[in-house]
Amino acid sequence: MGTLLKTTIVGLLLALLGERIMNLCHRARIFAEVNPVELPNCQLLKGLESGSEDIDVLPNGLAFLSTGLKFPGVVSFTPDKPGEILLLDLNDGSLNASPLRLSEGFDAASFNPHGISLYTDEKDGSVYLFVVNHPQLQSIIEIFKFEQEENTLVHLKSVRHKLLNSVNDIVAVGPESFYATNDYYFSNLNMKFVEFLLGLSWTGIVYYSPGDVRHVATGFYSGNGMAISNDRKYIYAVDLTSHTLNVFEKHKDWSLTPVKSVKVNMLLDNLSVDPDTGDIWTAGHPNLFKVFVYNPEDLPGSEVVRVQNIHSDNPIVTTVYANNGSVIQGGSCASVYKGQLLVGTVFHRAMHCQLE
Ligand SMILES: *[C@@H]1O[C@H](CO)[C@@H](O)[C@H](O)[C@H]1NC(C)=O
Ligand SMILES: *[C@@H]1O[C@H](CO)[C@@H](O)[C@H](O)[C@H]1NC(C)=O
Repeated sequence: MGTLLKTTIVGLLLALLGERIMNLCHRARIFAEVNPVELPNCQLLKGLESGSEDIDVLPNGLAFLSTGLKFPGVVSFTPDKPGEILLLDLNDGSLNASPLRLSEGFDAASFNPHGISLYTDEKDGSVYLFVVNHPQLQSIIEIFKFEQEENTLVHLKSVRHKLLNSVNDIVAVGPESFYATNDYYFSNLNMKFVEFLLGLSWTGIVYYSPGDVRHVATGFYSGNGMAISNDRKYIYAVDLTSHTLNVFEKHKDWSLTPVKSVKVNMLLDNLSVDPDTGDIWTAGHPNLFKVFVYNPEDLPGSEVVRVQNIHSDNPIVTTVYANNGSVIQGGSCASVYKGQLLVGTVFHRAMHCQLE
């Protein structure tokens, strides 16, 4: 091969690599810094020190928090303690989150909860909690029934499927059916890293019910938080590293069609919908790199964002709170209930704010 040709090929490869790296930095917002936005009347929940990756709130103000996530590359302050689901009553003002008992026979020692979603059966009022569980880094959806009197989650079934290979978040749409986002196409840790480096957009949303499992959306770089609109006609889903909030119309046969994609200049994590206004609330990472490379001298921050009028031509995106990690690190979700805001984090604490 001629020297000129070799030089050209090497040059092209370097240019390609450079482009990929710049693209990666942009996607992970490696250089991003936080402009603080403060909120009055906030306090951290007591006794919660191993994260609150996901939060879901029942219409009666009972909040469920998943805690103790162990995730490759993410710091854990309680590495030897199994994960738990905590219950917090937002009506009594005490802000005491206490663990729910898990029914006998369920392997509580390897419980590693990630995204959660509540489903209330309209017929009999039964409440089901769906939990993305990663025991030994597997990806399993656990379905529990919530027994309030016994303060217990009764385990009903574990769902495993080859299309649910790297689940991040779920939206329950029936006692046994749900939508799930995968954050990676590959299940193997090394391949996930390659996928992230190359910026492949091979993930999406899967619909699951016993007997019918299929992809209903594709083309995501990294699927993350999901939520359903209050009228249950739309699904909202985050593509983490493309910094977009995607709106899908849901059809009778559970298929989804894309409606729009709203750009939000941060790494959104989980989503929730204000039961009164329909506004979308989310928390996320100003800078993903700091979440994965934990440095006590340079902490990962948290941002809380509200999106109003998502279905209009001009959705309003407001940063309601932003902190550089001095108060709360690695924000991953935000939920509102009657003027109260709960902010969860991947591995740090949880914060409650009185908004009005
Ligand atoms: C996180 O996502 C789940 C599934 O969509 C949803 O049920 C829950 O309300 C969300 N929580 C927050 C705090 O955004
Ligand atoms: C983080 O924010 C706090 C409060 O806004 C400020 O006092 C502190 O200097 C900031 N730290 C860094 C490292 O920027």
